[in-house]
Amino acid sequence: MKTSQRLSEFTSFIVMDILEEALSLEAQGHDVVHLEIGEPDFSPPPPVVDAMCRAVVDGHTHYTHSLGLWSLREAISDYYGRVYGVEVSPGRICVTTGTSAAFLMLFGALLDAGQGVGMSDPGYACYPNFVRFVGGRPVALPISVKDGFQLTPERAACTTVEESPIVIISSPANPTGTLTARSTYEWLLARGHTLISDEIYHGLVYDGSRVETALGLSEDVIVVDGFSKRYAMTGCRLGWMVVPESLVRTINRISQNLFISPPTPSQYGGIAALEHGDGHVECMRLEYGQRRRLLIDGLARLGFEVAFEPQGAFYVFAEISRFSDDSYSFCKRMLREAHVAATPGVDFGKHETNRYVRFAYTRGQDCIVKALDRLAHWLNG
Ligand SMILES: Cc1ncc(COP(=O)(O)O)c(C=O)c1O
Repeated sequence: MKTSQRLSEFTSFIVMDILEEALSLEAQGHDVVHLEIGEPDFSPPPPVVDAMCRAVVDGHTHYTHSLGLWSLREAISDYYGRVYGVEVSPGRICVTTGTSAAFLMLFGALLDAGQGVGMSDPGYACYPNFVRFVGGRPVALPISVKDGFQLTPERAACTTVEESPIVIISSPANPTGTLTARSTYEWLLARGHTLISDEIYHGLVYDGSRVETALGLSEDVIVVDGFSKRYAMTGCRLGWMVVPESLVRTINRISQNLFISPPTPSQYGGIAALEHGDGHVECMRLEYGQRRRLLIDGLARLGFEVAFEPQGAFYVFAEISRFSDDSYSFCKRMLREAHVAATPGVDFGKHETNRYVRFAYTRGQDCIVKALDRLAHWLNG
């Protein structure tokens, strides 16, 4: 069947292709170590599970307001006050079906045909496809390990406000784990870009690093955040965005039409996560910190280069130049021959990405040790 011209450059999400191949290997009886998918192996905090179960039993299984339960929007507003000392009115908070729905609605609301959105390359694989899907044009802003994968003002200067009226930054970043410096946000705002700040990995930072919400910089910044990563709630499909007052009704209309409302039991889980989840998040963060050290040191011993140590999220973006200049075929061979799944750098853009593989430390330390052993045999065998 003929598909839309709009999809001509719509790429597959390669990590999902790798996962799907790993699942078929498992179906054939092989044991695969999964370091490809950016999905926590933890269960959500117990109060979240209790709240979701209770919601179902109590009959909270109907649609809610398209922008989410008011009590959840209030809980998110309290969270900004408590964690960042920033006041955000619940009325500016739109609850969404994961942050993925937030991006779809945002780009749909903001972009006219052909309009550009600046984003770091490498960067989160789905951003360019969201932009293409609504007829916009992704503009790659190349970043490099030489600057610790920072989107510096010098790097962002390769585009203009006319070419990329909107710039999106994820910090901590997927796939590099970089925290973007406050000066970059300030520079982009002063230059006149509309800024979208993806803060989904906030709370997952290591070695004493700290993060601030971009909401502290200006009321015009748009922040997207969600429950998938730090609360280990990927399957609950729950996120939110904070938008300027003037955009709320537009998002409301889009949400009513495209989603009707975010999942109701998950919204009750979201309230419990914000009110009772902090201790659980801290336990997960400490465990991620140990996995991170184990993986970085282990990969370095095997000859991968980790010239920049990720400060946040749960990924190591390791250079493979010693072994290959084709990250896709390297990952395919690694999966088929060593039964270790990881994501080729080319999933995240075009700038020097063939030299990198992303390893996610979203599996336990025993799995990481097993993967490192397998890689040692594979690379030296
Ligand atoms: C940077 C970033 N933003 C957004 C998402 C989407 O998450 P979700 O739709 O589960 O909220 C991901 C998922 O991997 C991500 O890495």
